[in-house]
Amino acid sequence: MNSSLSLFNLMHPDILADPYPFYHRLQTEAPIHWDPYVKAWVCTSYTEVAAALRDPRLSTERLLPSEALASLGLQDMIPIYAVLERQLLFIDHSDHTRLRALMNRAFTARRAEEMRSYIQRIVDQLLDTVESRGSMDVVRDLAYPLPITIIAELLGVPVEDREQLKKWSDDYASVLGSFQSIPDNLASVLQSVSEMGAYFDAIILRRRQEPRDDLISALIAAQETDNQISQAELIKNCILLLAAGHETTTNLIANGIYTLLRFPEQKDRFLTDPTIVASAIEEMLRYESPAQYTSRKALTDLEIGGQLIRQRQVVILIMGAANRDPARFPDPDHFDISRHDNKHLAFGYAAHFCLGAALARVEGQVAIQTVAQRFPLLRMDLQLPTWRENVNVRGLASFHVRVDSSAARGA
Ligand code: HEM
Repeated sequence: MNSSLSLFNLMHPDILADPYPFYHRLQTEAPIHWDPYVKAWVCTSYTEVAAALRDPRLSTERLLPSEALASLGLQDMIPIYAVLERQLLFIDHSDHTRLRALMNRAFTARRAEEMRSYIQRIVDQLLDTVESRGSMDVVRDLAYPLPITIIAELLGVPVEDREQLKKWSDDYASVLGSFQSIPDNLASVLQSVSEMGAYFDAIILRRRQEPRDDLISALIAAQETDNQISQAELIKNCILLLAAGHETTTNLIANGIYTLLRFPEQKDRFLTDPTIVASAIEEMLRYESPAQYTSRKALTDLEIGGQLIRQRQVVILIMGAANRDPARFPDPDHFDISRHDNKHLAFGYAAHFCLGAALARVEGQVAIQTVAQRFPLLRMDLQLPTWRENVNVRGLASFHVRVDSSAARGA
């Protein structure tokens, strides 16, 4: 294979900033191909990514066992993989159905909707702080503190632990963005993983003694009724909720505001039509998907797009590319907040469809609509935003905007 088609190119700063021309090239020249550099099949077309996500012959149980890690010289990663193991995202079939049913019971769309007024209160408080300053870093001042506050509240962990939770979660996400390689910050990741485990272990024990109206207590109650989830599974899935529930939502909010500002006619439309918020959020999710890809492992030989995938081979499914596939979305690089038939794959699809999609949508709607209503003259600062160096979790490192009324006069 031509090395210019390898996924490793995604780490190049220009491609990281705008991966879509590269994705389109893959869609045209090699929609499904073996990438010898990442040792996996790579799939970029909407039809095939969606079909693969619902194909039971493709498993999410794709973590390398300890022996395989050791033989690849990745033995230092063993404690990290041990935490990922037994998380919803890495189990399948009856095990997944059992755990997912239990988590669905504790994590309902109603619970997400009930959070709306709390989310509004936190957004208002965060924006009060920036208003007098006249400018804000959307990531630092809004998109980062909001989801971590909400997930901390939902899980029932003290909000004062927010900085600590953020550090752990950042470390965890950095592992998910590397192609089975040792992250540069390995020592920090190992420490975070061990500390997170001990932290949730202690909280779960406290909630067992004194239940509250929070997600951890709800999971314990479900566990005690059905005796279906072990303490280790509970800890690992709290870690998953913390990390999955915050990084991606941060990026939905910051990427969404950034994209609105890049397309002023869409921003004007967003401001003048309050009914458009839900469809605008869907378009933001499609256009700059916070989770760019996932992967699956073949349980048996099978065919995808005419290519034979052998048992045990890994397939990388790029939702970020599928969501810009011209065969599925007319004019896919056009950002259109009133787009119809917008069945994007930003939350995945089928059995592993995002557990927190309802919550993420409410957070995105409240945050972005409130910013637009309070600061209709919002505009980008001269300092251009930079993308984080993570090819999977797509998000801005920082993003400065002017929120004062002088912005309208070009000050
Ligand atoms: C699964 C994206 C927010 C919890 C997923 C998957 C994607 C995704 C793509 C499926 C991965 C796969 O099939 O391999 C997103 C995006 C979010 C977001 C883009 C925000 C914009 C959240 C939130 C939570 C959450 C707020 C929880 C508080 C989960 C969990 C799973 C999951 C637990 C695993 C579900 C399963 O395997 O059954 N998410 N997510 N996510 N997400 Fe999210």
